[in-house]
Amino acid sequence: MSKTALITGITGQDGSYLAELLLSKGYTVHGLIRRASTFNTHRIDHLYRDPHDPDSKLFLHYGDLSDGARLVTLLAEIHPQEVYHLAAQSHVRVSFDEPEHTGDVTGIGTTRLLEAIRMIGLDCRFYQASTSEMFGATPPPQREDTPFYPRSPYGAAKLYSYWMVRNYREGYGMFATNGILFNHESPRRGETFVTRKITRAVADIASGRADHVFLGNLDAVRDWGYAPEYVEGMWRMLQADEPDDFVLATGHAYTVRDFVEAAFGHAGLDWEKHVRFDDRYLRPTEVDALIGDASKARNVLGWEPRVLTPELARIMVDADIERVRAPEAARLA
Ligand code: NAP
Ligand code: GDD
Repeated sequence: MSKTALITGITGQDGSYLAELLLSKGYTVHGLIRRASTFNTHRIDHLYRDPHDPDSKLFLHYGDLSDGARLVTLLAEIHPQEVYHLAAQSHVRVSFDEPEHTGDVTGIGTTRLLEAIRMIGLDCRFYQASTSEMFGATPPPQREDTPFYPRSPYGAAKLYSYWMVRNYREGYGMFATNGILFNHESPRRGETFVTRKITRAVADIASGRADHVFLGNLDAVRDWGYAPEYVEGMWRMLQADEPDDFVLATGHAYTVRDFVEAAFGHAGLDWEKHVRFDDRYLRPTEVDALIGDASKARNVLGWEPRVLTPELARIMVDADIERVRAPEAARLA
C-alpha cells in the first residue's frame, strides 16, 4: 500500500528534495503552499502533473501556518500517515527584523499543526524541522544532549517548537520526532543565505555581470552539508521504531571565509579582489560556531553524510555558472 505524506514548506529547498524522495519511493505527496501574487513553486514545477492525470501523485493545497482552522480541514481531508513540518520563516537575520512574525509562524505555527493532529485524532508520524541554531552560544561539538542557548528570535522560536514536539510526544503518545539539522545547502538554497549568495556572486563575477559582493562576518564557523542527503535522514527518522531526536551534521568545520575561498577558487577568481564588507549583514547576536556530532543518527538510522563543504561549494558554483549560461535549462537543477 502506498503511503500518504503531507509536507509543509514543500516549495522550499528541503521540501522540494523531500517531495522528490518520497515520490521516488511511491508515496502520494500533499504539499501546503502559500497563496502569493507571483509563482512560488519553481523548485517543484518539474514534479507537478495535472491533478486530472490519473497517475498524478503530487497534490498542492493552499494554506498558511498562521491559520489553524485551515490546518484542521486539510489534515481531515488528506489523512496523511506522515507529516513533515518544514515550513517556517527560516532566515536568522530576517528574524531580528520580524521577531513577532517569526514567533507566530516558526513557533506557534508548529503548535497549530500539532494541535490540529490531536483535535482530529489523526494517527500519523510527525517530523519537526528543528535546527542547530537552538545550540546558539553553546560551544561545539553539539549533539542531542548539548544544552540549548538560542541567539536569535528564529532560534528561540525553533526551541519553543522543539519543546512542543517533545511535549506532544510525552503527553499524548504522538510519534513526533525532532530532526536537529545543521546547515545544509544545494543549488536550490534560498538566494540570501550566505553560501548561495556567494556562489551566485561567483557566477555573476565570472561572467562579467558583476564585479563584487558585500558580505558580513567571515569568521563564523559552520558545518555545511548537502541538502539531498539531509532529507534522506528526515525520512529515516520517521521509519525508526521509536520517535526520538536526532542531530544530522557532517562533523566538519569551515568558516564563511573558507567557503568564499573554495567558491571563488573553483572559478579561478581571487576572492580578495571581489569581496567587500557591509555591516548590514551582521546580526545583533551572532552564532560563532556550529559543528555537529551525528553519531546517534549514524548508529540508530544508518545515516551517513558524504558531501563535505569543498565539494558542496563546487557543486553550487557549477550550478550557478550554468544558470547564468543557460537560465531555462538550469531551472530544475
Ligand atoms: P526555506 O527554503 O526557507 O523554505 C521555507 C518554506 O516554508 C517555504 O516553502 C515557505 O514558503 C514556507 N513558509 C514560510 N512561511 C510560511 C507560512 N506562514 N505558512 C506556510 N508556509 C510557509 O527553508 P529550508 O532551507 O528548506 O528549510 C526547511 C526547514 O528546515 C525550515 O523550517 C528551516 O527553518 C529548517 N532548517 C533548515 C536548515 C538549513 O540549513 N536549510 C537547517 C536546520 C533547520 P514560500 O516558498 O512561499 O516562501
Ligand atoms: N545570510 C548571510 N548573508 N550570512 C552572512 C553574510 C551575508 O551576507 N555574511 C556573513 N554571513 C554569516 C552569518 O553571519 C552567519 O554566521 C553565517 O554566514 C551563515 O548565515 P546563513 O547562511 O544566513 O545561515 P544561518 O547559519 O544563519 O542559518 C541557516 O542555518 C540554520 C541551521 O544552523 C538557516 O538555514 C536556518 O534556517 C537554519 O536553521
